[in-house]
Order: sequence, then C-alpha cells, then structure tokens
Amino acid sequence: MASGDLSKRIIIIGAGCFGISTAYHLLRRGYASVTVLDRSAILPAPDAASTDINRMVRSSYSDPFYSKLCHDAIDAWKDQSEWPDIYHETGVLMGGVGNDPYTEAAYRTDLAMGARVQNLPDKTKIQAVLPTGVRTGLFKGYISRDGGWVDAAKATSLMISKVRETGGQVHAEKLVRKLIRENDKTAGVECADGTTFMGDLVIIATGSWTASNFPEMRLEEKCVAAGQSVVTVQLSQEEGDLYRTCPSMVNYKTGFYIFPPNKDNILKMGKHCGGHINPVAIGESQTLVSVPRTLSSHGDDGLRVPKSMLHDIRALLATTYPDLAHKPFATTRLCWYTDTPDEDWVIGFYPSDSSLVIATGGSGHAYKFLPVIGNITADLVSGTLDPSVIKKFAVDRAFVPHAKTRSPSDTEVLLPHDLCSPEDLVPPPPAHLSSSD
Ligand SMILES: Cc1cc2nc3c(=O)[nH]c(=O)nc-3n(C[C@H](O)[C@H](O)[C@H](O)COP(=O)(O)OP(=O)(O)OC[C@H]3O[C@@H](n4cnc5c(N)ncnc54)[C@H](O)[C@@H]3O)c2cc1C
Ligand SMILES: *[C@@H]1O[C@H](CO)[C@@H](O)[C@H](O)[C@H]1NC(C)=O
Repeated sequence: MASGDLSKRIIIIGAGCFGISTAYHLLRRGYASVTVLDRSAILPAPDAASTDINRMVRSSYSDPFYSKLCHDAIDAWKDQSEWPDIYHETGVLMGGVGNDPYTEAAYRTDLAMGARVQNLPDKTKIQAVLPTGVRTGLFKGYISRDGGWVDAAKATSLMISKVRETGGQVHAEKLVRKLIRENDKTAGVECADGTTFMGDLVIIATGSWTASNFPEMRLEEKCVAAGQSVVTVQLSQEEGDLYRTCPSMVNYKTGFYIFPPNKDNILKMGKHCGGHINPVAIGESQTLVSVPRTLSSHGDDGLRVPKSMLHDIRALLATTYPDLAHKPFATTRLCWYTDTPDEDWVIGFYPSDSSLVIATGGSGHAYKFLPVIGNITADLVSGTLDPSVIKKFAVDRAFVPHAKTRSPSDTEVLLPHDLCSPEDLVPPPPAHLSSSD
C-alpha cells in the first residue's frame, strides 16, 4: 500500500493536542478512515495536558523552527470563524533577559522573525507595560506582542467537534491496552473492554501515559512523565478587572509563569521545571517507568502538589505581583508533561514498524500549536515531511541536549507524604513573605 494512500484505515490513540490535531489534518487531506480512541469517558479528558483553562501562546523560542510554527499557529488562532473567543493576544512578557541564556536567544530569534518586541531593561519599563495600579517586583525582561494565551479546554473540545464534523470517528472510554501485531507489524489495537480496532496505521498520541501504557516500546527515558505543579488564586471582580489586561508572563531563570485572570477571575500560575516523576516497576522486566498520578488514577488526591512547590510558587508570586502574595490558593493540580531529553517532540515511525507512528513528547510546550501540529504528522504519514524535520523529531534520534528552557537536574521523585493538604494553601503570616516595599 502506497504511503499516501487515502483509503488507509488510521487509528489514533489519544484525543489530546497531538492526536486530535493529527486526525483533523489527515481528514482535511482526504484520508477517509480516521478513528480516534481515548480512555476517558469525558472528552476532552479532564486530566489530559491539553485540558485546562489556559495555555500560553509564546512565539519567543530560541529555535526558529518553533517560533515560525507558532506564528503560523497564531494566524490560525486569530481566525474567529474557526476559533471563536479562544485566543487572547495579551503579549508574553519574558522575564530575566540578561540573566538567562535561553531568554537571550529567544530575543534574538524574535528580532530575526520581525516579532513585535520591546526590551524592558528596568523596573520602570516593566511597570509601563502593566495596567496602572498593578505593582510588580520584576526588574528586567522583554515583551513580545505576538502571543498571549488560549482557552485550552475549549479549543481541544472544539477540535474534537471539527474532527467529527469532517467524518472522523472519536470514541470515548476506549482504553487501549495493547497493540495487535501481525507479520511483525502493528495491525490494530485491543481495548480494555475487549473491543478491537484493526487498521493499516496506528498513531500513538497518549501524552504522558505513553511510556507506561506501552512499556514494550521502551520510551521510559525518551518520553518521561513529569508532574508539574500548578495553582490558582480566586480574585475578586475588582482585582480581576485590574489584572485582566496584564501580559502573560514566563521567566526561564526561575521557571515562574502566570496568566492574566480569565473571565471567572481565576489567576493561574506555576513553575516550569524538571518536575516530579512517579517511578513504578512495570512489566516482566520490572523497568522503572514514571506513571502519571492524576484525577483519574487517584481521584481528588491526584490534584495535590508537593508542599515545597507551593512555597516556591508563592515566593515567585510575591516578586511578580506583591499585592496578591497574601491570597490563599484556591486549587492545585499536578499536570503531566511528556519530557524528552532535548525538549523537541517525538513525531516519527517507530523503528522497523511501518504501521506504527509515535506523536508525543510535548515537553511542556506543544499546546499552542494545536491548529497546526497535526499537519506535521499528516506530512509524515503522506510521505511529504521535510527530511530535516523527520530527523528533528525521529524516535531513534540521539536526543542531544541543546538550548533548553530548564535544567533536568532539578527533577525529583514524587513522595505522597510530601503532598499538600488544605492548610498549606493558606499563606504564612506576612512577616514570612519576602515582599517589596
Ligand atoms: C502544567 C502544564 C502547563 C503547560 N503549559 C503550556 C503552555 O503554556 N503552552 C503550551 O504550548 N504548552 C503547554 N503545556 C504543554 C501542553 O499542554 C502539552 O504539550 C500538550 O497538551 C500535550 O498533548 P498530548 O496530546 O501529548 O497529551 P494529552 O493532552 O495528555 O493527551 C493524551 C490523551 O491520551 C489519552 N490516553 C492516554 N493513554 C491512553 C490509552 N492507553 N488509550 C486511550 N487513550 C489514552 C488521554 O486520556 C489523553 O486524552 C503545558 C503542560 C502542562 C502539564
Ligand atoms: C499543511 O502542510 C501542507 C504541506 O506541507 C501545506 O501545504 C499546508 O499549507 C499546511 N496547512 C496548514 C493548515 O498548516
């Protein structure tokens, strides 16, 4: 069967950013049989990385490949007929320029791409891009007006509808338990409920569950599930109105990122870092694989984050927005990245199996590309993907670390007894907070 054969039966496992965007682009190209299976009864899956109130759209990358792709994605996000009320172009304030090599490199890329950037070399300049009345302790950075944030749960849900409308099948509550193999090739999948789906091509897009759900692929070092701590603060209507026009912010020196409040006045923030792994011995070989611990595996307990992360995040909030540092956290969530050693994605055929494709390895930065990322997988499947891109995302590449947004050395093991309880959400007495004058 020719690789571009549009009658191929294609099965995609996972209806997150990678899977659903791939389905959408395959259908647009005329592939007639596209079936998406997701384990979750509710779609989009509440514990998927692609489901949240917001995800940042940052075109400031050190690597021009992603910067260019993000500008393409922004063009798509701006189309109100396709993505109504989803993209908010607040700009992205990159903190720490002058201190952080990644941010420096991203600034150079932005200049080369002709992005609308402005250097903010001191506190006064930073204050000037914030609404009057919002105080900050930040003292260095730059802003790119080409970016902001998207309502991720809404956009993923919309893309699932688009796939259904264009003739794709999307089935909830189909946990794929194993791949069916015939003649040394993947020939379909078997679900936990006993149903099977046979296909000419299977695309695994199971995000942070990939390495643990398919241990025989030995991806435990290439696609590591790392829990990232996220918290929210409930603002009053007045506070919400004051901070709403703030830019989205990220600082790669500290890892801190924060969004402006959404329409419900929920302020969300987190720390982009190595995160917490949850190693479990899996399979006959008892290989240690990091397994996501979430709402679906642990109920509400799966939302708790390590106590130490709450302290870090509160201190970082205090330097960013000192006037909000005394507020209790309303919710917490451990949200799982699928980390590769070089922070580049994995989109490629599984070695020596022409019927199996892996599309994952978001490394904490894939969501912003939802409208376009599946076009890469579609090019791969059609046999039209540029050789340099094939190499960049290959499953069996060398994964040589290059300019990265964080150091993996701060990855820790998740210890259930260190997880936060409700009393940890309340701030310590004011004297213990390092706030500015
Ligand atoms: C805290 C946090 C903050 C982030 N911030 C940003 C940001 O600001 N900007 C940005 O661009 N990106 C961001 N990201 C990264 C982005 O969210 C991810 O890269 C992207 O959503 C990953 O998509 P995915 O399809 O790989 O995984 P997911 O969205 O997790 O989807 C995987 C799907 O597979 C399903 N599944 C798993 N196993 C099976 C199975 N065996 N059978 C059937 N179905 C299965 C799951 O139910 C799920 O729906 C962030 C991620 C996190 C966790
Ligand atoms: C998808 O990729 C094809 C081929 O590379 C390209 O021609 C097309 O413009 C892309 N479409 C989108 C929406 O990015």
